[in-house]
Amino acid sequence: MTTSQTPAAVDSPLVRAARGLDVPFTPVWFMRQAGRSLPEYRAIREGTGMLEACRRPELVTEITLQPVRRHGVDAAIFFSDIVVPLAAVGVDLDIVPGVGPVVERPVRTRADVERIRDLVPDDVPDIDESVRTLVAELGPTPLVGFAGAPFTLASYLVEGGPSRNHEHTKALMHGDPALWHDLCARLARISGAFLRVQVEAGASAVQLFDSWAGVLSRADYSHYVQEHSTEALAAVADLEVPRIHFGVGTGELLTLMGLAGADVVGVDYRVSLTDALERTGGRWPLQGNLDPAMLFAPWKALEQRVHEIVEEGRSAPGHIFNLGHGVLPETDPDVVTRVVELVHELSAR
Ligand code: CP3
Repeated sequence: MTTSQTPAAVDSPLVRAARGLDVPFTPVWFMRQAGRSLPEYRAIREGTGMLEACRRPELVTEITLQPVRRHGVDAAIFFSDIVVPLAAVGVDLDIVPGVGPVVERPVRTRADVERIRDLVPDDVPDIDESVRTLVAELGPTPLVGFAGAPFTLASYLVEGGPSRNHEHTKALMHGDPALWHDLCARLARISGAFLRVQVEAGASAVQLFDSWAGVLSRADYSHYVQEHSTEALAAVADLEVPRIHFGVGTGELLTLMGLAGADVVGVDYRVSLTDALERTGGRWPLQGNLDPAMLFAPWKALEQRVHEIVEEGRSAPGHIFNLGHGVLPETDPDVVTRVVELVHELSAR
């Protein structure tokens, strides 16, 4: 299978760092760099629902490009959402502003699970179109495609929406392991197929978001979750793009997340890059890990923290600078731009 990445993007600092190759400077991008922190995003989104916006190529393209133009980041993250492929296979859900994904009928029974079918490329021709247009517009800047990991998707489906304690999810996992595994196997196929569509259309790297995996013990992660994330990441193994695997509060799971087939392990801000390197035995390039709340701190404190992270990253086999989670909506975008400049300046080789 041939893919449509531009040669310059394949040799970009982001892709090189993800492969542990030498780079001219530490590449930097931010989770949720496209979004409500940008006035141009708020303007273009006015009057269009989130799910609808994600399916309109002219909006997806423009919104994905906005932070690249404004901040000079070293990667674009495809503007979409982890629940877009679920909606595309007919799961009745919406993304409620200020809340997140809300599922009309939570998935709890065998009949509920059996209604979840596989995703085929024909379900998302608009995603293919958006990625192709973007890759052409981005030139040398790589596009990062993404999908939600099976556990995080399962949590939204089983709980019916965002959850603090994930109690229904854990009850299903432990109460009916066979049904749990069936659900996660289906979600892994959907996420894998969604990643594949993006890479075949030209994305130069992918990130699997297991945002809520940090609520699991290592034992539960390895018994009930890891194999399914492995399956999702394996779906693009033959396409030879670097795969980043990220979760929030996953300091105890970093090695298992690496072993799931990642090329880069994403680190949130609760664990230093130095500790993350020690925990993972230096086996993987790392991505992270500025606390998004630090973007609200006085410049001197923020500058010091960025400096420390860039320094810590030098000991890793590769380092991609990012936040420990997404840009918060109230963030001053000018501060984000200054951080990009600072990372480039501090890390120039
Ligand atoms: O810039 C980017 O990072 C790319 C776009 C992106 C979005 N969602 C856009 C979005 C990505 C990568 C995601 C993934 C996503 N969606 C995750 C994993 C990343 C993470 O944050 O841990 C999760 C858990 C979701 C589910 C989700 N979708 C939540 C929790 C929310 C926020 C709800 C809110 O309004 O606060 C969404 C909606 C969403 N996804 C928005 C954006 C820009 C906000 C919607 C809006 O602007 O109206």
